[in-house]
Amino acid sequence: MLELQNVQVQHGPTAAVRGVSLSVAASELLALVGPNGAGKSSLARAIAGTHRPVQGAIRFLGAEITRLDAPAISSLGLTYLAEGRPLAPTLSVRDNLLSGAHVLRSMARAYDRLEELLPLFPALAERVDSPAATLSGGERQWLVVARALMARPKLLLIDEPTLGLAPRAARETLKVIADLRKSGSAILLIEQNAALALEVADRGLVMGGGLIIAQGAPRELIDDPSLTLSYLGGATTRPAITT
Ligand SMILES: Nc1ncnc2c1ncn2[C@@H]1O[C@H](COP(=O)(O)OP(=O)(O)O)[C@@H](O)[C@H]1O
Ligand SMILES: [Mg+2]
Repeated sequence: MLELQNVQVQHGPTAAVRGVSLSVAASELLALVGPNGAGKSSLARAIAGTHRPVQGAIRFLGAEITRLDAPAISSLGLTYLAEGRPLAPTLSVRDNLLSGAHVLRSMARAYDRLEELLPLFPALAERVDSPAATLSGGERQWLVVARALMARPKLLLIDEPTLGLAPRAARETLKVIADLRKSGSAILLIEQNAALALEVADRGLVMGGGLIIAQGAPRELIDDPSLTLSYLGGATTRPAITT
């Protein structure tokens, strides 16, 4: 579904991504983990078209998207949730959700989609008329995820959805994300919280210093002592707020 070949991303003199190749299959949850500064968000922005790579090729559903802009990529069905996505705090849960459906280009289709999605998020369904600002931290993250799903993405690229959440809300949020595979979406989940992300993933990639350091079954990565210390060590003890 998504395929990257030798993607390189620069920020001025800084080589943030130094040649990454990966692929995501249909209905797969691939976790991309690694410490702060590894280049995960830079890679995500290259895929989503918000920061053009200097090298390499990105293909989505068989078409090359490397040089497309962000709106064109999103209209192909690749929905990107950047780090720290804002909600409209004074708008209701319902209106926040409807705002995610503009690519459906029809209010009737947006309401149909809302009816499909709300049963998947019971906590949001109960609060559909409440302003987003009244939700808990975990509920807000679910709203961000649900709003992205309003667009019926074929692939969801989601950067640090558990940022700032307490461990229990983080785990619940990742379960909600893992459940999305049932609706046929593929997911590329980027997380600094490696232990939690690998728990729900089908496959894992570990990134460090702009490169893929290791990849494989989540269990193998969690149990690999060389990775645990250097790349996954801070995962469960990191401070709640980092970039
Ligand atoms: N907008 C930017 N301008 C300059 N340097 C950046 C920018 N974004 C990221 N970097 C640098 O690129 C490297 C990778 O960062 P990032 O992609 O945010 O990693 P991660 O998401 O894994 O924490 C870091 O050295 C970071 O300082
Ligand atoms: Mg990041």
